[in-house]
Amino acid sequence: MEMRSLFEPRAIAVIGASANPGKIGYRIVENVVRSGYRGGVFPINPRGGEILGLRVYPALAEVEGEVDVAVIAIPAEGVIDAVEACGAHGVKHLVVITSGFSEVGNLEAERRIVRLAREHGMRVLGPNIFGIYSAAGSLDATFGPGGIEPGSVAIVTQSGALGIAMIGKTATESVGLSALVSVGNKADIDEADLIEYLASDDRTRAVLMYIEGVKDGDRLQGILADVTRRKPVVVIKAGRSKRGSMAAASHTGSLAGADEVFDSVMRQSGVLRAESVQEGFSWVRYLASAPLPPGDETVIVTNGGGIGVMATDACEKYGVVLYDDQPVLAETFSGAMPDFGSSKNPVDLTGQATAEDYERALDAVLAEDRMHAAIALYCETALFDTSRFADLLREVYARYRERKPIVFSLFGGGEIEAVIRDLRGEGIPVFGDVYEAVSALGALYRARRRQRARAEPPEAVDLPIAEIRRVLDAARADGRTFLLAPEAAQVAAHLGLDVPRSTLARNLDETVRAAGEIGYPVAMKIVSKDIVHKSDAGGVALDLENEDEVVDAYQAILRSARAHVPDAVIGGVEVAEMVRPGVETIVGARQDPSFGPVVMFGLGGVYVEVMKDVAFRAAPVGRATASEMISDLRSYPILLGVRGESRKDIDAIADVVVKLSHLIDRCREIADIEINPLVVYDRGRGTRTVDMRILIKHPKGVS
Ligand code: COA
Repeated sequence: MEMRSLFEPRAIAVIGASANPGKIGYRIVENVVRSGYRGGVFPINPRGGEILGLRVYPALAEVEGEVDVAVIAIPAEGVIDAVEACGAHGVKHLVVITSGFSEVGNLEAERRIVRLAREHGMRVLGPNIFGIYSAAGSLDATFGPGGIEPGSVAIVTQSGALGIAMIGKTATESVGLSALVSVGNKADIDEADLIEYLASDDRTRAVLMYIEGVKDGDRLQGILADVTRRKPVVVIKAGRSKRGSMAAASHTGSLAGADEVFDSVMRQSGVLRAESVQEGFSWVRYLASAPLPPGDETVIVTNGGGIGVMATDACEKYGVVLYDDQPVLAETFSGAMPDFGSSKNPVDLTGQATAEDYERALDAVLAEDRMHAAIALYCETALFDTSRFADLLREVYARYRERKPIVFSLFGGGEIEAVIRDLRGEGIPVFGDVYEAVSALGALYRARRRQRARAEPPEAVDLPIAEIRRVLDAARADGRTFLLAPEAAQVAAHLGLDVPRSTLARNLDETVRAAGEIGYPVAMKIVSKDIVHKSDAGGVALDLENEDEVVDAYQAILRSARAHVPDAVIGGVEVAEMVRPGVETIVGARQDPSFGPVVMFGLGGVYVEVMKDVAFRAAPVGRATASEMISDLRSYPILLGVRGESRKDIDAIADVVVKLSHLIDRCREIADIEINPLVVYDRGRGTRTVDMRILIKHPKGVS
């Protein structure tokens, strides 16, 4: 595999190695040496001499033998020459630490580096990074604080500062790392390349990504969708808020994609999105150590009613299912329950419980085949002998750690705090906060569901693409970046969508005749390539009941269109059937700048405008995913039928979503397509495509 030599190089050069301990070029050599790297290490510096006992080469050309990785830590002006030298030497991977490229607007220099590297068959990590750590290679080629413990969590981060801080955090939290990679400006190697490698790396049990902006999201989505079926991947994305997005854009020079799209596509790919660095860290730590639960049934054991109730709330929030077969619970805990206790889940041993009661109850849950995971809560009480508590938890954890997931949450004073610290240091999943404990278990359950869910098989959707292309090409040949209403209607007809009957009328006579043929009431719209916003130009009239109204509307529409856009070339008016009212929805699809083709669904009006209640997915999607998009909406109950209303035709909506998703995937020249509204009727009665708008890319590829 191509990335293997980046993570497990046979020899490494450090260009810009320095004997000055204050310099990055010194720190890198120091970390490489201290991490126990067993390959060849070649510091490069024109001064020559020695660094940490290693011979320094004045130039890479003087190194004999192959070098797989060259770490470049010299000022930006010198980087391109260094890349050339690496290419000449047959280096495979460049790790470019140096800043001063696209993140400060210097895009051209960054592109030159990648072009030149690619010409020599090299791949580039960075620039603008702190380096790479790889447990597989026993290699710390970063300028971080050193002392990284090898383990099973891999971290891929776009933020350098955060990555360096994570090294410190992993040390205090005793989290072992299988890899830590700084991707910086992602000029060449990106998350997708790295995740692909990490998926095949046996050491890595969970991956944490910190992302600010996505570049080749289409590919990333495909790789993540596959990898998350084998290993949990957690993402922390900055740029959720509007201000946050701006900061992220100026930070690494890559634009953060619209958060709604990112969020939906990550979920679709089975990635767990954490709200904060703390949460993400806590999840991967747990995911990397806990076994997948054998089933869905979780039991809470507590010695305090209050925290038991809080844990119950948290279970609901994080999708953890509580076991509730009462007779089995009563029987299971019959020997472990003090007076006044309750064997209902949460199993409340009460403040009277002794350490022995607590241990017996935990054993009872974890030994019972019908119960699959335990949440163990403890509130410090006077009766409980806390001194033996740490040992008790150690023993219970050791007995079941391979078989069933457990999370502990302890609450109390100084002694309890010390127990938490000690046990965490030993890698036992002990949390101070109930919500944090349950959120980690919830992440594990979501990872399990992902790994068990079968991938939706690709659906063959038969669309007359050649015919649709002819319509698009005609519009492009006409120099337009949008389709006229009759053209859009043709595309809709090719898609097999139910479009209201309509006719293009060129004069008043034709208009009156068309209205008669279609049947009253009718709607009328101006047709002109110079008028995109027809309503604003007074170019639309609705609910025309008879011939007189049609005549009046015809004149009014032409008059106001001319007044609005004096030079407009008017092709006539579109006369269309008025559509029966139903639930108004929106189906859209577009080429997303980060993720490529995506499809969207939402309810119309306030739901989309005020509540932003929409679902996105990377396109194309099959029926199952389309149905999931629909049921994901907060306003879904409206489609299910509320307050005596009957259920709407959800299958028919899914059908339209599937078709549009395939169209946007196969016709990349379509920039944006939106049906607004798609009117939905009761179950079995279908949908109607009232207005479909299609924007196409400029014929010459400039938009
Ligand atoms: N080949 C080999 N060595 C070279 C060289 C070349 N072409 N050009 C310069 N050097 C040597 C220098 O002589 C110096 O060695 P010395 O200490 O013996 O004099 C060493 O390389 C470093 O060069 P120097 O000019 O001192 O640069 P620096 O150490 O001040 O800065 C960077 C270099 C890469 C650290 C700096 O340009 C930079 O980009 N800093 C930001 C890094 C960063 O934050 N990255 C993102 C983190 S998330």
